[in-house]
Amino acid sequence: MTDTTNATGVLGAPVDRRDGAVKTSGRATYSTDVDVEGIVHAALAHATVARGRITVLDVEAAARVPGVLAVLTYRDRPAMRRPGRLNPLNLASLAPGVSSGYLLDDEVHYDGEPIAVVVAESLEAAHEAAALVRAEYEAAPDPVVDFPAVAAGGAPQRPMPIGPPLGGSKGDAEAALAQAAHRVDATFVTPPQNHNALEPHGCTVVWTGSGRDAQVTVWDGSQNVDWVKRHLARTFGLAPGQVRVISEHVGGAFGGRTMVWAHTVLAALAARETGRPVRLQLTREGVYRTVGGRSPSIQRVALSAGDDGRLTALIHTAQLRKGAVGGAAEQVVSCSHDLYDASAMRLGTQLVSMDLLPNQVMRAPGEANGTFALESALDMLAASTGLDPIELRRRNLAPSRGPIDGKEFSQRRILEAFDVATSAFGWADRPVAPRSMRDGRWLVGWGAATAFHPAWQFPAHLRLSVAATGTVTLECAFHELGMGAPTAVAQLVADRLDVPLPAVEVRYGDTSLPTGPGAGGSGQSASIAASVDVASRRLVATLDRLGRRTDGGAFGDGRSAHERYTEIVRRSGRDEVTVELGPRSGLAATWSGLRDTVKLMRDQRRWLKAAAGAQLCEVRVDADTGEVRVTRWVGAYDIGRVINAKTAASQIRGGVVMGIGLALTEATLVDPRRGRIMNPSLTEYHVPVHADVPPIEVHLLDHPDPQTPLGILGAGEVGITGAGAAVANAIWHATGSRVTELPITLDAVL
Ligand code: MOS
Repeated sequence: MTDTTNATGVLGAPVDRRDGAVKTSGRATYSTDVDVEGIVHAALAHATVARGRITVLDVEAAARVPGVLAVLTYRDRPAMRRPGRLNPLNLASLAPGVSSGYLLDDEVHYDGEPIAVVVAESLEAAHEAAALVRAEYEAAPDPVVDFPAVAAGGAPQRPMPIGPPLGGSKGDAEAALAQAAHRVDATFVTPPQNHNALEPHGCTVVWTGSGRDAQVTVWDGSQNVDWVKRHLARTFGLAPGQVRVISEHVGGAFGGRTMVWAHTVLAALAARETGRPVRLQLTREGVYRTVGGRSPSIQRVALSAGDDGRLTALIHTAQLRKGAVGGAAEQVVSCSHDLYDASAMRLGTQLVSMDLLPNQVMRAPGEANGTFALESALDMLAASTGLDPIELRRRNLAPSRGPIDGKEFSQRRILEAFDVATSAFGWADRPVAPRSMRDGRWLVGWGAATAFHPAWQFPAHLRLSVAATGTVTLECAFHELGMGAPTAVAQLVADRLDVPLPAVEVRYGDTSLPTGPGAGGSGQSASIAASVDVASRRLVATLDRLGRRTDGGAFGDGRSAHERYTEIVRRSGRDEVTVELGPRSGLAATWSGLRDTVKLMRDQRRWLKAAAGAQLCEVRVDADTGEVRVTRWVGAYDIGRVINAKTAASQIRGGVVMGIGLALTEATLVDPRRGRIMNPSLTEYHVPVHADVPPIEVHLLDHPDPQTPLGILGAGEVGITGAGAAVANAIWHATGSRVTELPITLDAVL
């Protein structure tokens, strides 16, 4: 597809992050750090029933708090449009986190839904007033909020379309299962999880003018500034060009800033209504109440095999939830669709709609908890057959084609990953039987699992230029969430143009730039790489033409490409030479966007591209208390071409850390009667801290994928996949206890 050689040597170099110093020294400006003259503060008041109608809404006490400028509720009939319906041809229609909008009527759709936004001169006044908003409700008697009860048959469930990534089948899997010598048939339960980025969600909005003269500038930590722009334009009846969204530094995202949630919409409303610049910084609790996270799941995985361990049946079904006003099924069974070959397979997904905040993608949505179930079940089958669990995987991994649809793998190096990881880990010394390693009071166990995450690519527009000063500039509204994207993108440009890395400037995170890809599906780098590759060749062709015109290009001899390009620009008498990929607005943009999307979809249909790997870990379990410590981690990953060895390995480590949280601590507790999240804080929702995380040894195979832009498969999400199962499998190996419900707490271990 593209030339994947690395003649410049800049690809893969472990270059320090360009934003490292500004972030670690506290000088980075996040979206609510923006200082604007005359800024005021907004805070939200939240509904306290899961479903119903507001009957009394008393804002008098709130309005009397000194410094309060406005208390806006549905009774003010704020002019806003309801978000449109999901349109499969328009990815941006995914942007609204909820389809009901905010403050549009007296209906409540989930506990925590904003019922008022308060605007005040100070943060303190805004929060005090928000707490004084008093509401009464006519609550629906039986809100649908108890997922385990619903999944057990309490409400209608919607089977999702059969086919990847939510389903698929071949042969008669149930019949094969019934006949087999070795059989595992287990139910796995995973909890809902909330997003806990270091920087809680918030934004700053400046709204000037009105009607056609309105200009709205929004600083909002986002994974898709184009979606935020288009969503706000639609909501407030503006042309997209009237909204500018800036997202420079973002303190973590993981999917939690993919959609547009209440704080962004209501800060914009507050700015329009008060005519003042507005800052709305959610509290941690505010994030839990209004920003969706991972769906819980109840999964059945049934496997069967003969004595040789070859799979005869693989069944993987998942029950999931969405919100009544938004959310979607997560691709929990996609790992089973594409990893192992069994003679007969059946995969399916059921979705139930509940009176809860809609779910939103969260690091490897689907694969993170789907691999927990599949890879735990494989371990159980290994125990039943007496095979080493990695040997069992070796015998069953589909080598070159999708086991159900026959789609060709662009490359598959999972066995190579296991080879690298097992030798680095010393896996050969592992006793097969559980409970056979002990170190004082600690029971020691080793676990393994396969990591898997599909590779994605999206359209990316950009502008690339060489200036007479020698500066090479890439402009593209992509996103930096903490993964080091601008550094890696600069490396892509330096490589394609063969110019020194320090000469490359990268501008990103601003809708005034050409529309970039969203940072999602671990697809941002590949998406940008595809466009950088095309734009670089065009730019070089343009420069060569110009060079021949100025003086036959003779001055090119003996100089570096960078010197030659700069000289050509200088001699042409221009400030810079620029190429631009993709129109910036209008109907042409819609068409070219559609064309790009269709092209990418065709490509996805032909090839099965995925990042994958091997996760190996050691746990120690206190024989008396059941306390689990993860003490060693070795992983090897095929992420295709590595752009920056340092940032890519950090991405993977972040994924593993989140995987340890998924395995051992993270769970959103939902009151089964009222649908309220009961632990909306980091004191009661536990994410791993440094003391919980061992050194994580990351091996990157670094083989360019032959079918992806510059060979990139994506590094963001694959690190969390398989991680939960690796921990659970190690706990089984240490203790003999097989825990099938997450998080694995000490009471379940002993
Ligand atoms: Mo991700 S869950 O695509 O940020």
